[in-house]
Amino acid sequence: MAAAVEAAADPRPFGSSRQDLLMTSESAAQQEKHPGPRLREARMHLHNPADPGTGVVVSSELCTKGKSASCVRHIVVDVSQSRLSGAFLSGQSFGVLPPGNDAKGRPHQVRLYSIAAPTTGEDGDGRHVSTTVKRTVDEHWESHKLFLGVASNYLCDLQVGDSVRITGPSGKRFVLPANPQDHDYLFFATGTGIAPFRGMLLDLLRPKAGPPCKGRMALLMGVPYEMDLLYDGLFTDLAREHDNFRYHTAFSRHAQADMNRTLYVQQRLEAQRDELSAMLASPRTLIYICGIVGMEVGIFQSLARILPPEALEQYLSIAPEVRGSIDSWTRVMVNRQIKPTRRVFTEVYS
Ligand SMILES: Cc1cc2nc3c(=O)[nH]c(=O)nc-3n(C[C@H](O)[C@H](O)[C@H](O)COP(=O)(O)OP(=O)(O)OC[C@H]3O[C@@H](n4cnc5c(N)ncnc54)[C@H](O)[C@@H]3O)c2cc1C
Ligand SMILES: NC(=O)c1ccc[n+]([C@@H]2O[C@H](COP(=O)([O-])OP(=O)(O)OC[C@H]3O[C@@H](n4cnc5c(N)ncnc54)[C@H](OP(=O)(O)O)[C@@H]3O)[C@@H](O)[C@H]2O)c1
Repeated sequence: MAAAVEAAADPRPFGSSRQDLLMTSESAAQQEKHPGPRLREARMHLHNPADPGTGVVVSSELCTKGKSASCVRHIVVDVSQSRLSGAFLSGQSFGVLPPGNDAKGRPHQVRLYSIAAPTTGEDGDGRHVSTTVKRTVDEHWESHKLFLGVASNYLCDLQVGDSVRITGPSGKRFVLPANPQDHDYLFFATGTGIAPFRGMLLDLLRPKAGPPCKGRMALLMGVPYEMDLLYDGLFTDLAREHDNFRYHTAFSRHAQADMNRTLYVQQRLEAQRDELSAMLASPRTLIYICGIVGMEVGIFQSLARILPPEALEQYLSIAPEVRGSIDSWTRVMVNRQIKPTRRVFTEVYS
């Protein structure tokens, strides 16, 4: 609804104005000034829905910090009998084909799940992939009867030893750079958007071969309540083990231990600005954003509030007419008037 209202309010939903053209050449120059890193090479679509592979569930465990109202499971799948074996990267997704048909009698469509495992898999040899699945459970918005999402509940119901039809891997842009030591990293996650960052941080800090990455890293993780935190023990341990990794949380529905108010991840960024500004000013830094759609707007607004222009332009190319109205930025403006540079990686979903 909000997107529709924004679209209706936009006077130029189609085509491009002179301002757009100016913006295009300006942001092209900016992309050249702030080029993105060379990324790890991703293999894609080794199985598709017409030719799925078969995985076998190795384990399935709740991964919330406490007794959360949400059911979120860390599910490990043995893909050694499929073409995904040894062929995925952290940050990519894989597909799940639930059995059965939809209400129209057609086979259920594939659903994507972010890989939560490091590139070497949970087993160290790329044979065990994992993901972070939240059960979709709600009241149906018309009938008010129980609404259960098909694939998330199918996956969460699976038992150890059960088979599952898989596709993928998918995605080639939301991955780590080919030379990880050359960069610093700021990761923003909301809810299950943490999945790819679990894999990436394990790649960076607990690599199977070679030393851990020495670059600076910060993870800003947002959830409704503290008990909804995912993999909290792992990230706390990583922060304790590595001076170059900071782990910050934001609770949206109750006060934080250090502040008497609720926070979204972008407000956590503003709260930690003294600690994170130097890293954000560095030309080494990459920003990764994953989770709920819309979070990128708030993060861009916070970056614009806390960074001086020369630091900000490393991440965003902002059209002159919206530079002075940060509080009014909307999703419709992103990629038109507020263009992330190639140093920003965004994967958000409703
Ligand atoms: C690249 C990518 C990566 C993803 N990674 C993850 C991940 O790591 N973990 C994760 O949990 N999810 C992830 N998702 C989301 C995932 O693909 C599924 O969309 C999600 O699990 C819901 O699927 P489902 O089959 O359970 O629900 P569905 O059966 O598909 O139901 C959801 C749909 O039903 C409708 N609906 C929702 N609520 C209601 C309601 N109350 N009443 C009526 N209709 C309703 C909506 O149209 C919604 O799209 C990812 C998505 C993408 C695109
Ligand atoms: N690769 C991907 O694309 C990928 C991977 C995994 C998950 N996802 C998506 O990520 C979403 C995560 O949902 P979830 O149910 O797991 O999360 P959740 O537990 O509900 O947590 C989401 C958190 O984000 C907050 N939030 C809401 N709007 C925000 C905004 N505009 N800016 C910043 N924070 C905001 C929420 O606060 P309040 O609710 O209190 O307002 C809540 O604290 C889902 O939509 C999922 O499909 C995408």
